[in-house]
Amino acid sequence: MKVLVATEKPFAAAAVKGIREIVEQAGLEFALLEKYSSPSELIAAVADATALIVRSDKVTAEVIAAAPSLKIVVRAGAGYDNLDLEACSKAGVVAMNTPGQNSNAVAELAIAMMIYMSRGQFTPATGSEIQGKTLGIQAFGNVGRLVGSKAAALGMKVRALDPFMTAEQIQAAGAESVEDIKELYSGSDFVSIHIPATPQTIGSIGRELICSMPKGAVLVNTARKEVIDEQGLMEALELRPDLKYVCDVAPDNYALLKEKFGLRVFATPKKMGAQTAEANINAGLAAARQIVSYLKDGCTRFQLNK
Ligand code: 3PG
Repeated sequence: MKVLVATEKPFAAAAVKGIREIVEQAGLEFALLEKYSSPSELIAAVADATALIVRSDKVTAEVIAAAPSLKIVVRAGAGYDNLDLEACSKAGVVAMNTPGQNSNAVAELAIAMMIYMSRGQFTPATGSEIQGKTLGIQAFGNVGRLVGSKAAALGMKVRALDPFMTAEQIQAAGAESVEDIKELYSGSDFVSIHIPATPQTIGSIGRELICSMPKGAVLVNTARKEVIDEQGLMEALELRPDLKYVCDVAPDNYALLKEKFGLRVFATPKKMGAQTAEANINAGLAAARQIVSYLKDGCTRFQLNK
């Protein structure tokens, strides 16, 4: 039985080595497809795979159809908007993610981005400090909570909104709970976004919310570019010359934003939130262990398409 690791954006070498060891120790075959440039390479590689480990690689209905032996696909990471869960279910393929395994790396990047923007992208212009400022965290899951604890340690006032948590749970996890999204945006010098990309959230952050932020505010997006209404963002930045936007993965209109707003916007050239050796090892090895547990013992913990 073959376990294929297919990562357009490769894992650190130590993570690949660790995955291979877990797979081979379980008596399974290990295969690797890295840095591929077209979906057709993935489609060809899955032909005889029993299990598949991916990152943000798109596992479409076409990929599933090309993998008749596939029993399980694990997204080594948190967000699973790249998996066609319906196609997986129809084909009897178990889909999983590895929640929490790469959260610290993303949280550290969110903090770094706040400082980077507050210090004028490390230009000599006079900047500002994050200590004493209010941070609003949109979704208080694994990443959001880590951002909150790090921000609190840096002297920020931390508030959070999460539709799946009560006010008491948010407080117990270390943040002040806010009533609604309007309050989150209008009362936060920084908002850090940690919502998944779903039909409900895509395009949900636009002009009105962004314009409601206080003077000099920074919007930090290490989640998914799709949750931003890009036209609305552009209009907000035009209307409010004091606002800034920083994100991990450029919006489609990034060239234009950069041209218009210069140092007020910044996007990483390639999604790098989880791109640390530690995160790769944590998520990659967890994915391999989950596959072995499923194939050997039928363990369906972390299954997404139940
Ligand atoms: C995630 O959802 O886990 C992060 O966005 C990381 O994605 P990546 O594996 O593509 O770096």
